[in-house]
Amino acid sequence: MDNTYAGRTKYTPERARKYQKRPDAKHRAEMKLLDRAFQLIPKDYRVLDAPCGGGRVSVHLAGRGYRMSAADLSPAMVEVARENMAAHNLTLTVEQQDVEKFTYADRHFDAVISFRLFHHFPTADIRRRVVRELCRIADKNVVLSYFHPSLSTLRRKIRERKKGAQKYITALPEVEGYFQEAGFRLVKDFAQLPVIHTLHVAVFERSR
Ligand SMILES: C[S@@+](CC[C@H](N)C(=O)[O-])C[C@H]1O[C@@H](n2cnc3c(N)ncnc32)[C@H](O)[C@@H]1O
Repeated sequence: MDNTYAGRTKYTPERARKYQKRPDAKHRAEMKLLDRAFQLIPKDYRVLDAPCGGGRVSVHLAGRGYRMSAADLSPAMVEVARENMAAHNLTLTVEQQDVEKFTYADRHFDAVISFRLFHHFPTADIRRRVVRELCRIADKNVVLSYFHPSLSTLRRKIRERKKGAQKYITALPEVEGYFQEAGFRLVKDFAQLPVIHTLHVAVFERSR
């Protein structure tokens, strides 16, 4: 299994705490984007947030009424997320899980949200494998963030090359292809700012 990518291993305890403190403006803009996408997801759904990181998406969606569960590969992130849930008086489960091979049963959740991980995957094989897993455990919907080509792509590439932290741009047709193979179809794609911003969130639904 060629599962070597920086995002898999870089979330050490120190980085996990740092990522949790995402700048306020960025956090608010991202949650706004998710709110637009989640208008398509019924409020009584059981939703898995994977990867949950420090748990900010789970906290946000639990506040909107969703029945949340959370999972992440990094033990440090799981610990931060559990602390975060306790700080918000939320009793939801946070588990260590690998999005490439969940231990959940088929269709275990109504929906799965996977936010800010897909752009770390360097190969089509990993992308396909992860989409297959997300679709396997989602009975109705998968909500996925990915990096779509945009005006900021070149600026981002230069910055990343300097920092040595590469992210991967995948246009919507490529992403849609993986979902079609897994029996899901696109409902709607959302951009933070079309053409300008790279971060997109797409909502998919089961078609078979
Ligand atoms: C950029 S963070 C995003 C976290 C969260 N969705 C958020 O937006 O705050 C990426 C997360 O993916 C997790 N991760 C990386 N590879 C993973 C895998 N194969 N399975 C589950 N989680 C993974 C990392 O541990 C990290 O917490």
